[in-house]
Amino acid sequence: MAEAFADLFKDSKIFLDRKVLSPHYIPDHLLFRDKQIEEIEKALTPSLRGERGRNVFIFGKTGTGKTSCIKQVVERIKQLPIVSARISYVNCRVYNSRYRVLSKIAGDHIPMYAKRGYGIIDIYEKLISWIEEDGKVLVVVLDEIDIVKDLDDLVYTLTRANSDIKSGGITVVGVSNNVSFKEGLDPRSVSTLYENDLVFPPYNSHELASILKDRSEKGFKENAIDEASINLAAALAAREGGDARLALKIVTKAGELADEKGTSAITVDEITYAAKFAEEEIAYEVINTLPEHQKLVVYAIALMSIHGSKYKKLSEGTESYILSGEIFNRYVSIAESLHAEPKSSRLYRKYIAELEMQGIITSYESGKGIRGHTKLIKLSYQPGKIKELIEKGILRDNGTEAH
Ligand SMILES: Nc1ncnc2c1ncn2[C@@H]1O[C@H](COP(=O)(O)OP(=O)(O)O)[C@@H](O)[C@H]1O
Ligand SMILES: [Mg+2]
Repeated sequence: MAEAFADLFKDSKIFLDRKVLSPHYIPDHLLFRDKQIEEIEKALTPSLRGERGRNVFIFGKTGTGKTSCIKQVVERIKQLPIVSARISYVNCRVYNSRYRVLSKIAGDHIPMYAKRGYGIIDIYEKLISWIEEDGKVLVVVLDEIDIVKDLDDLVYTLTRANSDIKSGGITVVGVSNNVSFKEGLDPRSVSTLYENDLVFPPYNSHELASILKDRSEKGFKENAIDEASINLAAALAAREGGDARLALKIVTKAGELADEKGTSAITVDEITYAAKFAEEEIAYEVINTLPEHQKLVVYAIALMSIHGSKYKKLSEGTESYILSGEIFNRYVSIAESLHAEPKSSRLYRKYIAELEMQGIITSYESGKGIRGHTKLIKLSYQPGKIKELIEKGILRDNGTEAH
């Protein structure tokens, strides 16, 4: 025990300030995002002037800087000397239902509502009268908006609020990692949310290298990481979709590996090794934060992969692929058992395409023979681990729901 604790106090030869390398750290200046920040601010200017502005929708893959940029804009808006403009930043991973979002917003601005326990109608009416008091404009940022379970209801309520409010209004900034999530939404929600949309493109390897260099200067000790290692980490992350978070994770993990070896500098070997770990870790995170029904589809695939499928011998080699149609059936019965209405098979096929794009599954079209043409699907990561992960998430969500 004492020996294990001794490690805690051993100086790292690699890290200077680990928190700078964390994905939660927001640097003072975000590189390559001036244009995006300016566009968000431009879109919100009418709202800040007290006019009811247009809603904004921001999307782009994970790690493209959406959260960092919007948080920076939120901070700037909070500093503005305009009393009638208020802003709430909501992380929908935490506040994942209409009720939770509305009580979070009310709690941000009306001290009495900071504690839980108010009914939804009470909260709604209070918010409206608070806005009307002096014609406020409330900007609501919904980060990772696609995780909200009853998003159509939430959007409907916010739209409805705008028509109930006599002076002032609510402007919504939706942020999503999920490029095509609007497919599953009510068309009315789509037209409300997508009044004004803004894409965050993935970073290329040069951009990632600059981001890493900038962070490394503060996060690592001098000479603990060299240019070759940074460039390699950047290139690997660029290949995986231009995700800055992945790039940071790779160098952090590589730093840990070097520390374990007791060396004073990261080499390209550690970077290569760390990249494998980081990719897998990120994949689990992505799965963990998928919207509910996509998670259930992945869950169905994981269960079927564990228990084996009778068609596995039909694929070449020993890898086990599962028939897409069977996964759909399994998904439907899982959804029903959780009292969630299953989505259509058309949407299911979209989910599958998206999961493949995110690298969570791989698929191929079978030739003729196996019940005509069909898609065969395989998980890219360990099914047992994925099953466990999703079960934890489902239990957590269903166990703590307030309304
Ligand atoms: N342009 C940038 N300059 C510096 N760091 C960045 C930039 N974009 C992203 N990062 C860093 O990458 C990580 C992930 O960014 P984040 O804003 O959370 O992305 P997203 O919300 O799009 O998934 C954070 O640690 C962030 O500081
Ligand atoms: Mg984000």
